[in-house]
Amino acid sequence: MTALDATTSALVFAEITDDDVPAVVALWHECGLTRPWNDPALDIADARLSPTSTVLAARAPASEGGAVVASVMAGYDGHRGWLYYVAVSPGLQGSGLGRAAVSAGEEWLRAGGARKVQLMVRTTNAQALGFYDRLGYEEQSTTVLGRWF
Ligand SMILES: CC(C)(COP(=O)(O)OP(=O)(O)OC[C@H]1O[C@@H](n2cnc3c(N)ncnc32)[C@H](O)[C@@H]1OP(=O)(O)O)[C@@H](O)C(=O)NCCC(=O)NCCS
Repeated sequence: MTALDATTSALVFAEITDDDVPAVVALWHECGLTRPWNDPALDIADARLSPTSTVLAARAPASEGGAVVASVMAGYDGHRGWLYYVAVSPGLQGSGLGRAAVSAGEEWLRAGGARKVQLMVRTTNAQALGFYDRLGYEEQSTTVLGRWF
């Protein structure tokens, strides 16, 4: 166990700053969360523009280099709270950081007035589906529809 493994439970999630954007984008690439049709930097800019959405990240302690190691995007649409881009640096997965990221997003949404949190998981992402099941998230009997503007 590295020193960082031993301290992951104590890492704090906070709203990212402009300086964090490249590291967050790199984390999402590393975690396989980016797709050609989504510009991650634009997604971050959009989320940070509105007071009802944000991007939170946890950093390693300064003594460990201070890198961004986990993230969550949260947004409240006035009816439901949504989580996106839950990501944990591959080398630190399995140490509780994913649960902490979801909790941080949930708390942010709850503080903003949301009574329910939802998220979308690609049907091919079996790892994430197992993770969310463990956290008490249940499949909703609904189909997500969409259309590009
Ligand atoms: C999914 C992800 C965020 C999980 O983060 P993590 O740090 O590995 O998860 P944690 O260590 O916090 O696990 C929390 C709990 O879920 C459980 N868990 C994690 N993955 C699991 C899986 N695939 N199946 C079942 N349980 C799982 C853990 O055992 C742990 O249980 P416990 O707290 O009761 O001991 C991380 O693997 C990741 O970044 N994956 C790539 C990006 C991704 O797919 N994100 C989701 C997008 S929708």
